[in-house]
Amino acid sequence: MSIREILLDSLKCQKGRWVSGEDLSSRLSVSRAAIWKHIRRLREEGYEILSSPKKGYLLEKIPDRPFPREILEGLNTRRFGKEKIRYFEVTDSTNQVAKDLAAAGAPEGTLVVAEAQGKGRGRLGRKWYSPVGEGIYASLILRPRIPLSEAPLITFLAAVAVAEAVMEISSLDVKIKWPNDLLVGGRKLAGILTEIATEMDAVEYLVLGLGLNVNTRSFPASLKTRATSLLRETGAEFSRTSLIQGFLRWCEKYYWIFQESGFDPILRRWKQLSLLLGKRVRVETVGGILAGTATDVDPSGCLILVDDRGEEHHIFSGDILSEEPSTKLRSRNLAEKGDNQ
Ligand code: BTN
Repeated sequence: MSIREILLDSLKCQKGRWVSGEDLSSRLSVSRAAIWKHIRRLREEGYEILSSPKKGYLLEKIPDRPFPREILEGLNTRRFGKEKIRYFEVTDSTNQVAKDLAAAGAPEGTLVVAEAQGKGRGRLGRKWYSPVGEGIYASLILRPRIPLSEAPLITFLAAVAVAEAVMEISSLDVKIKWPNDLLVGGRKLAGILTEIATEMDAVEYLVLGLGLNVNTRSFPASLKTRATSLLRETGAEFSRTSLIQGFLRWCEKYYWIFQESGFDPILRRWKQLSLLLGKRVRVETVGGILAGTATDVDPSGCLILVDDRGEEHHIFSGDILSEEPSTKLRSRNLAEKGDNQ
């Protein structure tokens, strides 16, 4: 631990009580001038620390910034986030950093977080709006021992983990739109970008990139009607650090379930949270636009769409253009499956 970390810990331990500069300097074996220098640096990072010539220092407020030290404090996981956390004030894309780290051998559970991204990437070559300090931009390195064909299911796992983490901290009803958009009230709250490196037909490593709009106040005109944030939905600010901790915990939990029992339990939960099953949808695929009813997802994560001629399509990748309820089919599906929506 660095001097600054020990100093911060000493202030945190005192829980709102004053600590004298003299005490700190003897405990840390550094001069009082050095203590003052570290206090100034902590203040620059956003820690609100009072100082008084007579009483010393008092930590008043910890900033909601996803510093590794704050994520680690109280992080209740075995590996995820515990291996290594790389923090950036700004980077082009946390997914790119995570991919570079993974290619250089970084272990499973390594996390990359940033306050802002210059070139945040979304699915299908889109950009991800990444304003400073408002959202979560994080990428987690995984090394699952699975064939390439199963890799999309890890994205389902991540989507479920994000939904659980958000629902545990708020009263919002989060829905998942195939394959992995998280929506509240029909607007996008979060998205997941999975990038994979392969080794023969198996996964070498996989980067799960999470973009979650937490305290975002406003969106550019092009996103205004489609995107939302926790702040916009509830009127309250949420701790990004707690949400990252929740995401890591739920992700690790479902990752463990998947290793013990396969993907079935995850798919079952995904279907419970799914927005689309039983609805009429239009999907843009590489082969063109398909319209019909989304009836299910198959065990490899493909969306099953039944078109108006009754033909079944298994869609591996695509973009949902619109959705509307199909009451007749919806009630039939619910009666048949019970666990959908
Ligand atoms: C989507 O299009 O829905 C996926 C968006 C994923 C955005 C996140 S933000 C952190 C990580 N780094 C990136 O460049 N993209 C992902």
